[in-house]
Amino acid sequence: MGKIISFVNHKGGVGKTTSAVNIGAGLSRLGKKILLVDLDPQANMTDHLSLSPEEEKNIYGAMKGQYPLPVLQVRDGLYVTPSTLDLAGAEIELSSKIGREIILRKLLASVTAEYDYILIDCPPSLGLLTVNGLTASELAVITAEPGKFSILGMKRLIEVFGTVQELLNKSLKDYRILITKYDTRQSLPKQFSEFINETYKDKVYQTVIRMNVALSDAQMQGKSVFETDAKSRGAEDYLSVCKEILNDCF
Ligand SMILES: Nc1ncnc2c1ncn2[C@@H]1O[C@H](COP(=O)(O)OP(=O)(O)O)[C@@H](O)[C@H]1O
Ligand SMILES: [Mg+2]
Repeated sequence: MGKIISFVNHKGGVGKTTSAVNIGAGLSRLGKKILLVDLDPQANMTDHLSLSPEEEKNIYGAMKGQYPLPVLQVRDGLYVTPSTLDLAGAEIELSSKIGREIILRKLLASVTAEYDYILIDCPPSLGLLTVNGLTASELAVITAEPGKFSILGMKRLIEVFGTVQELLNKSLKDYRILITKYDTRQSLPKQFSEFINETYKDKVYQTVIRMNVALSDAQMQGKSVFETDAKSRGAEDYLSVCKEILNDCF
């Protein structure tokens, strides 16, 4: 059975999409079969994989019950369920539906056995879509960019994690923190990383994703960093975190 991981943080621009895409691509390079699910109405993941947010079938139609989960092949071992801008309406449209928090879990149940890992890219909010992501998952990866507001936001996120775990999803086993956009030339990121490691200890991945222009370049080109610059620091860091994930017994 595939393991399901959500990439979450209600803050935008902290590396959720970059991490989900490059970890997915990295794990597929290591021989795993991966499904990426774009659960963000901004459809950045869909775009990052050179697909259009206007694909005929997408996560939105599937969540509304119009068709089963649509899956498109990106390349060998790497598949994606695209998003669409219309998904922005889902929070309100689905809000009165009975079982609204378990819609994604039910959709994924029929495909889990086909993949080694399913990675869900959540939107920058703690609304119904993110709750659906967490309710479908066994692990939450919180991406954190060094900064004071990240520390404040982290507490809130972990509270929501706890609530979902208690009320909606007993299979949600744990969370991990992945430090991203780490600028090695400044002292603040180092202090941030020390604080996070002292506070959250073994929940923190040892790999830190450094600032690297190859990652934003790859995004612009609609590819993973392994295709555009496999020798970059970005590729090196994401491959390293992939190995941690493979060894992680959540
Ligand atoms: N380690 C990094 N180094 C340089 N740029 C990065 C890095 N991680 C992310 N970015 C860039 O930062 C922006 C926000 O990242 P993104 O993954 O889209 O965040 P989120 O999904 O949390 O909103 C994107 O333009 C992305 O290319
Ligand atoms: Mg994103």
